[in-house]
Amino acid sequence: MKTKITEMFGIEHPIIQGGMHYVGFAEMAAAVSNAGGLGIITGLTQGTPEKLANEIARCKDMTDKPFGVNLTFLPSVTPPDYPGLVKTIVDSGVKIVETAGNNPQQWLPALKDAGIKVIHKCTSVRHSVKAQSIGCDAVSVDGFECGGHPGEDDIPNFILLPRAADELEIPFVASGGMADARSLVSALAMGAEGMNMGTRFIATKEAPVHENVKQALVAASELDTRLVMRPLRNTERVLNNAAVEALLEKEKKLGADLKFEDILPEVAGVYPKIMTDGNMDAGAWSCGMVAGLIYDIPTVQKLVDRIMSEAEAIISDRLAKFAA
Ligand SMILES: Cc1cc2nc3c(=O)[nH]c(=O)nc-3n(C[C@H](O)[C@H](O)[C@H](O)COP(=O)(O)O)c2cc1C
Repeated sequence: MKTKITEMFGIEHPIIQGGMHYVGFAEMAAAVSNAGGLGIITGLTQGTPEKLANEIARCKDMTDKPFGVNLTFLPSVTPPDYPGLVKTIVDSGVKIVETAGNNPQQWLPALKDAGIKVIHKCTSVRHSVKAQSIGCDAVSVDGFECGGHPGEDDIPNFILLPRAADELEIPFVASGGMADARSLVSALAMGAEGMNMGTRFIATKEAPVHENVKQALVAASELDTRLVMRPLRNTERVLNNAAVEALLEKEKKLGADLKFEDILPEVAGVYPKIMTDGNMDAGAWSCGMVAGLIYDIPTVQKLVDRIMSEAEAIISDRLAKFAA
């Protein structure tokens, strides 16, 4: 299938794997790229320019296909070495960067001068329009359903995507709640040029995470995510567990007095404990409502092939019937 996104990134299928903390290692990105999608290494999981350079090199050993790097810009007291990470990406020859979090404007000149295509992840139409105006090449429009940070507007994709289509000239992919061929075809119908998946890619054979994480996704329903950190305006959609319940209890008790420090045990440094050690109650970890649509743990290739062949069938059989 050819879309503006497959053309822009030189990929076979319009399917992107969004950056994911402690999931987006070289193994994940390479598996998605080898399957014809766009795999993305998560820059901040590596943390330092040296480690990121090493991870990019590992990914190049595993695939000849295009892959990208995610750079998430978060407010932080001790920010990561962003200039060093950007330089590493440029020097490595990677040609695609997914930015997320704050406005990436200050990093665009360095990236664009190196011929890098930038896709910025946005949870609102106004941020998408802003991304377009500062020179991003594409946008990943992330609806309220999404795993991770849905922003504070709470607009689900059935509204957000057509709104983005009405306002944007640059291509965009649908992100949040995307799981299968139905997601892809609906995204295309609403004006997107492809889809970005996070949570769904975790439940694959190649995802370099503990088996407990994959099983938790298969077991979860669409009712099992919670929104945490709303009072801090840093909302995150996570899978419910004992730590999340404790966190929400603190939010309820402390109300407007809640500070980030109050919830450190539930959110700081928990990813390796969950993703690597499989300690499923260690803290809050991002997970989309799409968990309710995850029934199996296929290889990435099987997942991508299934999505593409079923998407073509939906378009040529089911939808063509209605146009007759
Ligand atoms: C476990 C996990 C970790 C994530 N970490 C990041 C991250 O570090 N940076 C980022 O930009 N997005 C991150 N995301 C968001 C994904 O890139 C993607 O936008 C989101 O998962 C899409 O929604 P979905 O889960 O419904 O597919 C994460 C998502 C998950 C599930």
